[in-house]
Amino acid sequence: MGAEATLRFTVDGRERSVATDPDRTLLDVLREDLGLRGTKYGCGEGQCGACSVLVDGRRMNACRTTVAKVEGRSIVTVEGLAKGEELHPVQRAFLEIGAYQCGFCTAGMIVAAVALLDVNPAPSDEEIVAGMDRNLCRCCSHPKIVKAVRRAAELAGGGAR
Ligand code: FES
Ligand code: FES
Repeated sequence: MGAEATLRFTVDGRERSVATDPDRTLLDVLREDLGLRGTKYGCGEGQCGACSVLVDGRRMNACRTTVAKVEGRSIVTVEGLAKGEELHPVQRAFLEIGAYQCGFCTAGMIVAAVALLDVNPAPSDEEIVAGMDRNLCRCCSHPKIVKAVRRAAELAGGGAR
């Protein structure tokens, strides 16, 4: 554990400054210091993707990222995806398809899907499976999740091939 430092970064478009041990995980800081509990703690080992966030647009596991690593960078959590009352197309698609059971993996899945569609707006099912392979659903909702990502692509104007 290191000495406390004041770290600055952007979360969901808002400048944040946190005085903390720089070796803490980004996940802990988001959940405990900033009260953003949409990002979930699943395995804590980089295996399940429940803690997925976007860092400068790239999906990362917040449980394996120290807060020092994100200094000066821009983080987007699941809380930052909607524009006011208007849900992000990926959120709308997950709701429409009902791509969840317990919902524990859902925030991470949605963030991962946003990252995927950002680089590939019209993925095939195979590309969706490959692009989401770092996110696990213990309730076996993967088939519906693939459907939801396909639907999100349509809603966002890309559309599946
Ligand atoms: S909680 Fe981060 S990958 Fe599982
Ligand atoms: S819906 Fe339960 S873990 Fe995915």
